[in-house]
Amino acid sequence: MELNLLTLCYLIGSLTFIIGLKMLAHPESARKGNLVAAVGMTIAIFGTIFLYQEDGQKLHNYGWIFGALLLGTVVGFIVAKKVQMTAMPEMVSLFNGMGGACAMLISIMEFKHITDHAFVWEGVSSLPGFMLIVGNINHLHMLIIVVGMVIGSVSFSGSMIAWGKLNGKVKDLNYNGQTYVNLALLLALVGLCSWYVYHTPISSSDVGGIGFTLTDGTIATHGLQPIQIYLFYGILVLALVYGVMFVLPIGGADMPVVISLLNSFTGMAAAFGGFLYGNQVMLTGGILVGAAGTLLTLLMCKAMNRSLQNVLLGAFGSAAKSGGGAKEQGNYKEISLSDAATVMAYANKVMIVPGYGLAVAQAQHTCHELEKTLEEKGVEVKYAIHPVAGRMPGHMNVLLAEADVSYDKLLEMEDANEEFKTADVVLILGANDVVNPAAKNDPASPIYGMPILEVENAKTIIVNKRSMKPGYAGIENDLFFAPKTSMLFGDAKAALQKLLAEIKNV
Ligand code: TAP
Repeated sequence: MELNLLTLCYLIGSLTFIIGLKMLAHPESARKGNLVAAVGMTIAIFGTIFLYQEDGQKLHNYGWIFGALLLGTVVGFIVAKKVQMTAMPEMVSLFNGMGGACAMLISIMEFKHITDHAFVWEGVSSLPGFMLIVGNINHLHMLIIVVGMVIGSVSFSGSMIAWGKLNGKVKDLNYNGQTYVNLALLLALVGLCSWYVYHTPISSSDVGGIGFTLTDGTIATHGLQPIQIYLFYGILVLALVYGVMFVLPIGGADMPVVISLLNSFTGMAAAFGGFLYGNQVMLTGGILVGAAGTLLTLLMCKAMNRSLQNVLLGAFGSAAKSGGGAKEQGNYKEISLSDAATVMAYANKVMIVPGYGLAVAQAQHTCHELEKTLEEKGVEVKYAIHPVAGRMPGHMNVLLAEADVSYDKLLEMEDANEEFKTADVVLILGANDVVNPAAKNDPASPIYGMPILEVENAKTIIVNKRSMKPGYAGIENDLFFAPKTSMLFGDAKAALQKLLAEIKNV
């Protein structure tokens, strides 16, 4: 009866994960989707704690379990409540690293568990040289443990480095031959794991049969040789080192791809944990995270024109640091608030391009006000959303949804690029890299090949930012010097408030 109830809990958990994930696909249902999946996870956790049985025994160390649950809940709640929108990617990376660490620890505990329980008795006086194996460590079991540990460890150490880089505490590291060193590390890791999984498992057939009657003088020894145990921990250290080396060189505009990839690693590692325990809900959750993370990685690679191979070898982003794309610029021109207000108020169509600066300034509400005011004056207003604008996937969608901007007004890149051709004014708010024409025109630029918002097809371009400083990729933007472009300097929120007041007076 209890077992059936537990299966039901796992079923509810798995279903809510799938429903929640589906709801996350739309900004209007995303918040509820998150909640649905969280309720399912709570049911699965409490089902496991109170209903799970092994050999007729329930879990007993409730003090430890609830102590850890309480600690995790309090820390998670406080961190998530306090986090600034701009620091969100850091938090995602940190929490993802914790997931990787969990998967790593599960594998270590299970390894210890099976090695502690798989004993070999030898020294049977009547049949010297024969051993009796109690407990079987088969290849599949060892494969799941080792792969779960390696993926979890890479995800843990990689995410910690990503976290440090995003909050500025860890600097990029680049040196000659880095790609080859990383490749050699990866090959060593894969080779060592394969060898280990193939050679380490022991079974009765490996050592001469089972069923001998033990006599006095029997010596119980460990199922694995010490060297096999040390090697396991050696693989653990190598995986941790690889995670660090893999993320260290990555910089510039490429971090989101890596964070998403590490996220999918954590999902896969959790799925291996599910295999290990025969736990369906862990398996479903892990597979969903792994698959969603992989798809997101591929979509972002496409949006930034990066190959996954480059991500895995930690090779990209380095061009940005070599100074590619830097060259002499001409003059830029500025526009006054009243001129900007007039141009916009008399336009037929205004397209707004939000970027990272809008999020920093927390100007989304003022931006929505501006949109409504322009519409009252008969101007059609739409938003052009670049897939990697801001600092996390869907950053601009979330930001604008927070200000109640209608989802119908948000155009994805392909549609926006069509629409720019008929726009009178493009207002760029704190965006830079996602509108940089060097991505199309300058093969020496580190962002060359990244699809961008083709704002230059509109009649007039107004750019709001605080200075001429570059954006995330650290490179100049020719667009700011183009004849069609005028700069409207200032913090996005303050500038928009003043612009709004001017437009109301037009
Ligand atoms: P960026 O290229 O980073 O440019 C943002 C611009 O906003 C800066 O040039 C900055 O110029 C301006 N700014 C900053 N604070 C401002 C404020 N308070 N008011 C007005 N302007 C302000 O942003 P983007 O165009 O959104 O492109 C995103 C970049 O981040 C891409 O390179 C992308 O690859 C990378 N990235 C994306 C993600 C994801 S998944 N979205 C994650 C990590 C990195 P001033 O300093 O002169 O004001």
